[in-house]
Amino acid sequence: MSTFWSGYIALLTLGTIVALFWLIFATRKGESAGTTDKTMGHSFDGIEEYDNPLPKWWFWLFIGTLVFGILYLIIYPGLGNWKGVFPGYEDGWTQEKQWQREVDQANAKFGPIFAKYSAMSVEQVAQDESALKIGARLYANYCSICHGSDAKGSNGFPNLADSEWRWGGDADTIKTTILHGRTAAMPAWGQVIGEEGVKNVAAFVRQELAGLTLPEGSEADLEAGKKVYAETCSVCHGQGGEGMAALGAPRLDSAAGWIYGSSLAQLQQTVRHGRNGQMPAQEQYLGNDKVHLLAAYVYSLSQQAEQIAKQ
Ligand code: HEC
Ligand code: HEC
Repeated sequence: MSTFWSGYIALLTLGTIVALFWLIFATRKGESAGTTDKTMGHSFDGIEEYDNPLPKWWFWLFIGTLVFGILYLIIYPGLGNWKGVFPGYEDGWTQEKQWQREVDQANAKFGPIFAKYSAMSVEQVAQDESALKIGARLYANYCSICHGSDAKGSNGFPNLADSEWRWGGDADTIKTTILHGRTAAMPAWGQVIGEEGVKNVAAFVRQELAGLTLPEGSEADLEAGKKVYAETCSVCHGQGGEGMAALGAPRLDSAAGWIYGSSLAQLQQTVRHGRNGQMPAQEQYLGNDKVHLLAAYVYSLSQQAEQIAKQ
């Protein structure tokens, strides 16, 4: 800020405070004047106003706020270029410096704990109760916004608490997914296979691969759909719809892990316009150690799901 504007702001602020001091003293009645029955002499619809001094508590509260304001402006940066004299901050306090300081303190405190877990394998960490508690908190902070607080996902966001995986569910793959993110590319097929093709292949996927029934009176040609599937879809989703983790192409022989819906209309929409799900990379924001704990937490969820499925 230029010296001119800095001075302008400082002058305006301090001037206002001085003016307020003047105002409160100039309008103050003498201390000795007690309560009287005298009125101001005006009347609004019969309501009159006593001519009494300000209540003491009010007067001192007013002075108190002015003093507070002055102290605040000395300690914190507020008067133009004045940086303040907050103790412990060279060159003045700022929100950012305070935040950075808290982050550094937290890293100094928790860094060694995180580092200890990073030295263990993800599978091992997934067995450690206290590590999972930290993982659960990290999850709630950074992941629940998309994957849900119960990790069960929602439309467009995969369930992380089941045993269905688009990119692979072993511990290291989960960690890679979180560290580097994933971008799925399901091309739009509407222009290529035409509207008939879209309807036929959607019906084929729903009934013949995923084993779900078609609505009454469906007129799709399943034979034609099968042909489209073999020619167009199987390269990524596999001959029998078993999926391909390297591409993040989900299995189509079961609808359990689908994220875009399994109704005919939703399937047609997916095939017609394609889908591009994006899992944002976390390495830059969270760093390896936190991601390691998160991977263990997510891995533990799917392990639980598998345990339950076995029982
Ligand atoms: C180039 C590889 C590729 C081809 C070819 C391809 N897909 Fe996909 N498909 C994907 C990927 C990757 C995804 C995951 C998209 C995402 O997660 O956003 C996907 C997702 C889907 C889904 C959504 C599943 C869900 O989770 O809801 C359906 C349905 C689907 N594909 C059907 C088809 C059909 C039918 C064809 C052929 C017409 C086809 N795909 C061709 C790669 C492909
Ligand atoms: C902005 C939303 C968003 C956030 C935040 C997010 N994710 Fe994701 N995540 C996605 C989407 C979308 C996908 C699916 C990508 C695709 O279509 O293949 C995904 C996929 C994944 C997968 C792969 C699932 C599979 O089936 O292979 C894992 C594991 C995962 N996320 C973990 C996490 C963790 C852990 C966090 C917290 C650090 C997180 N995600 C934060 C949106 C998000």
